[in-house]
Amino acid sequence: MMWKTTQAVALLVLCTVVSLLLTVCSAFSSFAPTNQFATVGYSNSNTGRIRTRCETPTKLHTSSEPNNNNTPDGTVSRRQIGELTIASIGLGTSFLGTRENKPTDYGLWGILPIGPYKTKKTIIETIVPDQIWTLDQKFGILNVQVPTRTTIIKLSGGGLFVYDPIAATPECLSFIRELEKEHGAVRHIVLGSVAIEHKVYAGVFAQKFPEAQVWLQRGQYSFPTDLPDSFLGFPLGRTNTLPLNKEDAPEEWKKDFDWDTLGPVISRDGAFGETVFYHKETKTLLCTDTVLEVTEEVPAIFDSDHTPLLYHARDYMEEKLDDSEEVRKKGWRRVVLFGLFFSPQAIRIKTVDEALSSRRPDINPDFAGIYPFDWVGDDVSSFKALQGGLLVAPILQKLILNRYAIETLDFADRVAKWDIKRIIPAHLKNNLKYTGKDYRAAFSFLEASGTPPGLPKPLALDLKTLNDAEINLTESGAIIKCPPLVGGDFSRAEIIAQEIYKCRGGMCTPKSQA
Ligand SMILES: [Fe+2]
Repeated sequence: MMWKTTQAVALLVLCTVVSLLLTVCSAFSSFAPTNQFATVGYSNSNTGRIRTRCETPTKLHTSSEPNNNNTPDGTVSRRQIGELTIASIGLGTSFLGTRENKPTDYGLWGILPIGPYKTKKTIIETIVPDQIWTLDQKFGILNVQVPTRTTIIKLSGGGLFVYDPIAATPECLSFIRELEKEHGAVRHIVLGSVAIEHKVYAGVFAQKFPEAQVWLQRGQYSFPTDLPDSFLGFPLGRTNTLPLNKEDAPEEWKKDFDWDTLGPVISRDGAFGETVFYHKETKTLLCTDTVLEVTEEVPAIFDSDHTPLLYHARDYMEEKLDDSEEVRKKGWRRVVLFGLFFSPQAIRIKTVDEALSSRRPDINPDFAGIYPFDWVGDDVSSFKALQGGLLVAPILQKLILNRYAIETLDFADRVAKWDIKRIIPAHLKNNLKYTGKDYRAAFSFLEASGTPPGLPKPLALDLKTLNDAEINLTESGAIIKCPPLVGGDFSRAEIIAQEIYKCRGGMCTPKSQA
C-alpha cells in the first residue's frame, strides 16, 4: 500500500532523521577491515566470551539467512554509498565535538546525534536507600524527548550492578563514582536490550569501568551489516553474552537475581530482545522496553529544560504560551503520543509546500523553523486510552511481538511468577508500583480475548501509521506475516507452525514448545 503524500510529509523529519541517524551508528563499521576481523566479538554460546581473533574466514555476515543488504556480487550498492556518506558526516561531527567542556557534555554524541545532542543532563534518584538508584537522561528527535534510564543495584556481596547504561557524561560518572565510594566498585554492567538507543551508550560506558564484567543481551546486531560487538565499543576479554541458565551466571549476581530473556526475535533487518532482572531482596523488576507506564506527571528530567514540552504544547506554530505547569503537562502529553505513535490522530500534517512556506525560525529556530503539523483533534482521549496500567509500546504490539505471541506470552507467564512489587522500566515514568500479574496483563493484546477493560489500549485511529507500516513491512518481507492470536480458533501448535524463526549470526529466534 502506498502512503499518502501527507503521511510522507509527517515522516519527513521524524522517520527520515531517525533512519539516517541510526544508519550513521551502524554504517561506520563499513570502514572496518572486514576480512581481518570477520568474527571478532561474536559469542556463539550462551555464556561464551568474545573471541579475540578471526576463527572463520572472511565473511562478516554469518547468518543462515541471506544478507539482503548487500548486492549479490558483493559490491557496494548506491544505498550503501549513501549510508557511508552519512556515516562520514556523523563521525566527522562527532570528532569535531568530542571535547567535554561541561559536566553534561557527551563527546561521542555524534555517533547517535539525537536530542539533546551533546548536552545530556543526568539526574539521580534513590529508589531504595542504600540499594537501588536510577540515572535518567533524555533522548529523542524533533523535541520528542523522553527519559531513558540506567538502574544501579548494590550487590549483596559488595559492589554495584548496572543495568542499561546511559551516556557516560562527566556528570553521570560523578554520580556513579560517589556510589562507588560508599558501596564498592561497579562490578557488572548489563545491556538488557539490542535496541540502538541503549547499546550505543553501553560500550563507551563499559570503557569507563575497566574492572567490570560486561553482559550483553543475546542477538546484538548492526545495520546494514552485522558488526562484531567489539566494534560497538564493548571491551575485549570481559564482554560476555547474558547466560540463560543459573549455573552459567557469576556467583556475584546470581544469588541476588532471577532473570529471563525474551527473544531475540530476529527480523530481516533487525531484532528485538530483552533480558529482565528480578532483584529478590527488594522484589524489583528491571526491564528495558517491554513495558512502560503513561502518566500525566512530567518526568523530573524536564525540570531543568522545558523546551521540548513548550514546543509541543502549541496547537499551531504562532500560538504563544506561558510556561505553566498546565502547559508543560499538555506538552508532555503530546511528546508521549508522538513517541508512541509517530503520527497521532490528533495532528493535521501540513503539505511540504505549506510546511516550508509557513516556517518561522524567529519563533522557534529548531529545524529551520519548520513546524510540520497542527494539533486539531482530541489528543486528550488518545492519551487517556494509554493510562490505567502497564503498556507495551504500540510499535511492539503491532510490528514485533504479535509475530511471536506464543513465545512472548510464555516469557510474560514466567516473569509473572516472581513476587514483583516494583518495576523500573528504561523509559517514561520511574519506580512503578505493579506486580507480576500486572506485567502479564500488559501482554493480553496477544490473546483473542483482548485487553481487559480498564487497562491501556491505544485508540484505533492512533494506530493508523503503524497499521500502514505493518502492511508495507509485511509485503516487503521485512517482517513475517502475523499469526493468529492466542486462545482463539487456533491451537498453540498451529500458531507456532505459522511463525517463521529467522536466524542471524548463528543465533535463531527461540521457539516455544508446541
Ligand atoms: Fe528503549
